[in-house]
Amino acid sequence: MMSVFRKKSIDSILAESKSKTLTPTMKTLDLVLFGIGAIIGSGILVLTGKASSEAGPAVIFSFLIAGLACCLAALCYAELASTIPSSGSTYTYLYVSVGEIVAYAIGWVLIGGYVLTSATVANGWSSYFSRLLAGLGVNMPKEFYTLPSAGGYGNIPAVIIVLLITFILSKGTSSSKMVNNLMVAAKVGIVILFVIVGSFYVEPTHWTDNFAPTGFSGVMLAATTVFFAYLGFDAISTSAEEAIHPEKSLPKAIIITMIVCTAFYILVCLVLTGVVPYTELGTGDALAFVLETVGQHKVAGIVSLGAVIGLMAGILSFIYAGIRITYTIARDGLLPKSLTKVNKNKVPSTLTWGLGILTALLAGFLPLGQLADLANVASIIAFALVSYTTIVFYKKYPNLKRGFRVPGMPILPAVSIILFVALLYSVTLKTWIIFIVWVVIGMIVYFTFSYRNSKLKDE
Ligand code: ALA
Repeated sequence: MMSVFRKKSIDSILAESKSKTLTPTMKTLDLVLFGIGAIIGSGILVLTGKASSEAGPAVIFSFLIAGLACCLAALCYAELASTIPSSGSTYTYLYVSVGEIVAYAIGWVLIGGYVLTSATVANGWSSYFSRLLAGLGVNMPKEFYTLPSAGGYGNIPAVIIVLLITFILSKGTSSSKMVNNLMVAAKVGIVILFVIVGSFYVEPTHWTDNFAPTGFSGVMLAATTVFFAYLGFDAISTSAEEAIHPEKSLPKAIIITMIVCTAFYILVCLVLTGVVPYTELGTGDALAFVLETVGQHKVAGIVSLGAVIGLMAGILSFIYAGIRITYTIARDGLLPKSLTKVNKNKVPSTLTWGLGILTALLAGFLPLGQLADLANVASIIAFALVSYTTIVFYKKYPNLKRGFRVPGMPILPAVSIILFVALLYSVTLKTWIIFIVWVVIGMIVYFTFSYRNSKLKDE
């Protein structure tokens, strides 16, 4: 009889996380920078304009709703990550508590989610890049960033940037970390610059005249859009094996990161909707657009340049997170073992290039909206499962040592699950179909390969 619900023992995971195969190098600040690097990106720089035009100034509530859901899930993550510091995150937690097939399925969904998120950010990067080039007087032929379905060659700059970042990653974590920190500084710098310069031009009547033009449904629609802006906090928890004191630093880093990002988003939206009427904001480069409107051309140029540099951090973080989780799954025998083979820089190079090339193809040949929608569905489901798993752990292993405990157990995780279900409400049928096809492919791999090759097969 098949035992697809076989479980890893909690002791083996705890032992595994003690006999680490990766060298721990990250402190709380590194983790926070890594988290901010993953979180702030296309969401705030590209999708905010669209969301503001959907909900009006009330878009700040969309950010609060999506932010609250993610913050609650982040707390659940923090508890699980401080209990089992393992690079497999959701996948590992489910492997221990619910069983192999569910863990594998969500791991498979997460791989797709990370790759799609990275591709979405690369796509957003490309629009800022071509705008920057145009500002410098270099007009790239339109075919180079137009999809084949619209008569172009694909999004070529997006393909090139992903491959370049994959190359950096293949050189090893320490060099990528330094590059990442520089890119995060650029990204955070332009967000702060925008808020400071823009705040001088705010006219409060833009907020008060038409605060919530589309009502609650507009706020919820925009919440599903801006959910993307929060994707990434879980990337911190997938670095558990590289954190020096994961029990303490992981929860701290997750919480600090969430607070900083939410504050940034709300400030940016207040400035955007305070400077121009919300109806003018439906553009892909809202921050630069608003600055241009008030005659701050130089600052607008700096913001575009910072976006080009900064968005690279998001691309890097998500491919990296995808590599970590695939590595963990392959190490358990559920994907080919050859993926875990490391090169002289201690990087699993086949895996790194495999995921990098897949990301480049998606970024180059799928439209931004579709990429973001798919990334959102994968992540919402994974986060809801994390919250659920926290409750399972709470019931099943009450005495396990925890570096951090979610307050208000089990209400808080339950509220986060409800919020995630509400966010799934406006997902389109097409997105669901593509998502289900991806899961079915994963299940075929499971029954033809993973089940027979699992490390647990003889236990
Ligand atoms: N949160 C990430 C971004 O907005 C995915 O780019």
